[in-house]
Amino acid sequence: MNPISQRLVLFLAAVSTAAAEPTLREVFKDDFTVGVALNSRQVSGRNEKAAELAGKQFNSITAENDMKWQLVHPEPDRYRFEAADAYFEFAKKHDMEVIGHTLVWHSQTPRWVFQGADGGDPTREELLERMKEHIFKVAGRYKGRVKGWDVVNEALSDGGEDILRDSPWRRIIGDDFIDHAFRFAREADPQAELYYNDYNLEIPRKRDNCVKLVKGMLERGVPIDGIGTQSHFQLGFPPLGDIEKTIVEFSKLGMKVMVTELDVDVLPRNRPGVADIGSREQGANPYTDGLPDEMQKKLAERYADIFEIYLKHRKHVTRVTFWGLDDRQSWLNGFPVRGRTNHPLLFDRQLNPKPAFTAVVKLGEKERPGAAKVELK
Ligand code: GLA
Repeated sequence: MNPISQRLVLFLAAVSTAAAEPTLREVFKDDFTVGVALNSRQVSGRNEKAAELAGKQFNSITAENDMKWQLVHPEPDRYRFEAADAYFEFAKKHDMEVIGHTLVWHSQTPRWVFQGADGGDPTREELLERMKEHIFKVAGRYKGRVKGWDVVNEALSDGGEDILRDSPWRRIIGDDFIDHAFRFAREADPQAELYYNDYNLEIPRKRDNCVKLVKGMLERGVPIDGIGTQSHFQLGFPPLGDIEKTIVEFSKLGMKVMVTELDVDVLPRNRPGVADIGSREQGANPYTDGLPDEMQKKLAERYADIFEIYLKHRKHVTRVTFWGLDDRQSWLNGFPVRGRTNHPLLFDRQLNPKPAFTAVVKLGEKERPGAAKVELK
């Protein structure tokens, strides 16, 4: 073959592999949307390679930070929508849905929100008014364009007698701050789906409390469409049975179930589910030069097990969103302490697919109509 036709053959081979290469959004298109949390470098195109990969693989995006109160509404009379707007442009370009994250949260919310005129607490009425104004402005701006909102994030407690955590929202307004937030959101954008979002919902106590919370909301006629389980998992925690039970219990309430912030921490922790204070110790950051094959395999198996559950409950699981595109920009490199080298996602630091990606895609492909049926547990 002369060099030109040789090159042509190589080119055609590359094109056909690219065309046949399965993507997450494609293999799960009849099951659920597959989402990713992105940052402003990625959606603005400053990180072009990442933008391309995200557009190809996913059909739903969440702003990792840019729609949080602190960024979008830093001062009482100042809103900054530039960064948030970019997610909608990106989504339009790549034919994706946008998830709004998040309207009411105790974290990443500026201090002024919880301050009254005298520097102490605002009154209940003042804070409710502030919440309403914020929700109307933010959810109102994206009315008809957003798929749904994480209306309230992380309101449940992690222990103790109380169902709800002690937060300024609760302390100043009372337990009904959640109901108000959802009612305001519905009014601001009647078409948007409204979600309650939290972490560790696989832990039985917190799962039960979430069920109680949402049941109460439904009884009071509060508009809510779904529950988001963040799903910041580890290799060995939570047990698969608990992951499944959470989906089942939430769907029994008639809720759409969304996996909203999926990742799998591969680094050691002292106690499951809890930030590891001793993680600065030597040996706590063992994969600084990359994840060894044996660990890649473990991660792939863990993801496959988890996705089997999602597929089994695809009627109720409407979306699975990963908390980040690639290992390099995962928040888990800084949690529970800075300077870790974590490998929790499907794409590595060079944006190459990991064995975990292949495992997940394979599972999706097997489920395609006409394909040999896999036995789901
Ligand atoms: C929580 C929040 C997210 C994000 C992660 C850490 O899960 O819901 O917005 O802040 O923590 O990145």
